[in-house]
Amino acid sequence: MLRRYHPPERPVTWLALAGFMGTGKSRIGWELSRRLSLTFIDTDRVIERVSNMRIADIFELYGEAVFRDYETEVVRRCVRLDEVVVSTGGGTVARQLNRDLLKARGPVVVLTASAETIFKRTRRNRRPLLELGDPEQRIRDLMAAREAAYRDVATFTVSSDGRQSDEVVDEIVERLGTWSSERHPT
Ligand code: S3P
Repeated sequence: MLRRYHPPERPVTWLALAGFMGTGKSRIGWELSRRLSLTFIDTDRVIERVSNMRIADIFELYGEAVFRDYETEVVRRCVRLDEVVVSTGGGTVARQLNRDLLKARGPVVVLTASAETIFKRTRRNRRPLLELGDPEQRIRDLMAAREAAYRDVATFTVSSDGRQSDEVVDEIVERLGTWSSERHPT
C-alpha cells in the first residue's frame, strides 16, 4: 500500500549561508539541506561546473573581477529558486549587489569562526586570496575588511568555532523557526 506523502515540516524553504572561508558553509549547508529536505547548492561548485575550471585557475587566468561577476550571475539565479540551501563563497557578500539580492530573498545565515580556526581549516585546500603573504595575517585583514558586509547581510549569525556540525545545524534550525514565526505570527 502506498503511504500518504507528508511534506516535511520546515521553518523555511529557502536560505543562504554566508561567512568567511573555512567557517563551514559547505559542510553545514549540506547537512542543513538534508535536515530540511532541501536541495544543496554551493555557488563555488556551480561556478566550477559551469566554467569547467577550478576557482584557483579562474583567479589565475582571468583575475578576481571575472570571478566576482560569475558569482553575481550565480546569485541572481539562486534567488529565483525555491527549496534550496545556497552556500555562498566567502567573498560573495562583499559586493553590495549580492547582499541586496540575497537579503531580499532571505534569510541569510552568517557563520563565524576565529582567525585561528579558519587558518587551521583553510590550510588543506587552495584559497587564492590567502596565497599572498602571511596567510594568518591575510585572514585577519580580510575578516576585518569584510566584517561590515557580513553584519549587513546577516539575518542572524551562528558560530561554528569548536562545535560539531550537527550542533550548529540544530541551532540554525531552531533560530530559523523563531525567525519564521516572528515574520508570520499565527
Ligand atoms: C573566496 C572564498 C572561497 C572562493 C574563492 C574566494 C573569498 O570560497 O569563493 O576562493 O573571497 O573569500 P569559500 O568561502 O567556500 O572558501
